[in-house]
Amino acid sequence: MASLFQPFTLKDVTLRNRIAVSPMCQYSATDGMVNDWHRVHLGGLARGGAGLVVVEATAVTPEGRITPNCLGLWNDEQAAALAPIVQMIKDAGAVPGIQIGHAGRKASANRPWEGDNHIPAEDPRGWDIIAPSAIAYGGGLSKTPHEMTKGDIDRVKQAFVDSAKRAFASGFEWLELHFAHGYLAQSFLSKHSNKRTDEYGGSFENRGRFILETLRAVRAAWPENLPLAARLGVIEFDGTDEETLGEAIELIKTMKAEGLDFIDVSMGFSVGKANIPWGPAFLGPVAARVRNEAGLPASTSWYVSTPQQAEELVRDGSVDLVMLARPLLTDPHWPFKAAKELGVESPAWVLPAPYAHWLDRYRAA
Ligand SMILES: Cc1cc2nc3c(=O)[nH]c(=O)nc-3n(C[C@H](O)[C@H](O)[C@H](O)COP(=O)(O)O)c2cc1C
Repeated sequence: MASLFQPFTLKDVTLRNRIAVSPMCQYSATDGMVNDWHRVHLGGLARGGAGLVVVEATAVTPEGRITPNCLGLWNDEQAAALAPIVQMIKDAGAVPGIQIGHAGRKASANRPWEGDNHIPAEDPRGWDIIAPSAIAYGGGLSKTPHEMTKGDIDRVKQAFVDSAKRAFASGFEWLELHFAHGYLAQSFLSKHSNKRTDEYGGSFENRGRFILETLRAVRAAWPENLPLAARLGVIEFDGTDEETLGEAIELIKTMKAEGLDFIDVSMGFSVGKANIPWGPAFLGPVAARVRNEAGLPASTSWYVSTPQQAEELVRDGSVDLVMLARPLLTDPHWPFKAAKELGVESPAWVLPAPYAHWLDRYRAA
């Protein structure tokens, strides 16, 4: 049996295989609420055979949305609207997960296909943005954020906790904290974006404080028997990689001690001028190092496109799960095809009965 199709158990949750749908913003919500687009998108991905479906970056506060059309979990109505979609994911045999986050200085942007830049100041669709320091990201995201007060920090941490509780109320069984990609939490960790002189800036210990405090508060609210994961940007490819990665691994060890169950290895995106070595499964060795040195189950994404690449990452122990994004946009049934390519006997492994039954039957004929 291919390693990619071995079940994976973490806490009280078992995934049918090692394929996870990586969170993917759809920029298609109104007032943070899911609609039929999300239902079809997520239902299709669950039906396609992945073991875990992680819903897109969902904002913990309105000002934490990347765009006006991002999902939110800052009120109970949003949680109630998610519940039937969560049930649909479960009915299709996948485990429902959600990523919650705050976009920090990258918030208040136009949708990627409408510019991927900050909404101009005079446009009423935009809003004031906050970050650890009043430093703009740059390029199209050149709006300067307000430096967060201690009150802002406490409010956002509490919003993470409240959203986590709502995620549980919606039925989610896997929670991923978005601590990556230059959004709020990552921008506390990065020296590029954090120039604070209080206990949230300066030393490594101080730059990691927001992440650890948020994690600790969420862990106390999220059920102990369900996996709590985080996506962290562990590397920037900005020339300081050994230092950044070393710090990230130390932070992840502390996160593990605070109750983190799983680490989803990604990049920092704290600077526009990074020298990223794009290529097939290029984060695999980084993820392997994080997994081995931090001693935590791990996943990664980025340019894993063939079943063989995914299989190798799991088989050689680089990761426990492979997160896939773009390959699943072009083919939500990628897991089914991967199972066939890797010689997995029955489609029932990855497809729900209304599909699997007929495919088995035709094959026998
Ligand atoms: C349409 C789209 C939306 C994305 N939205 C998110 C998101 O909400 N949260 C996140 O952490 N990453 C997001 N990403 C990054 C993916 O989760 C993934 O890490 C990245 O695309 C690399 O995987 P891939 O090579 O399989 O596409 C998004 C990617 C795409 C293509």
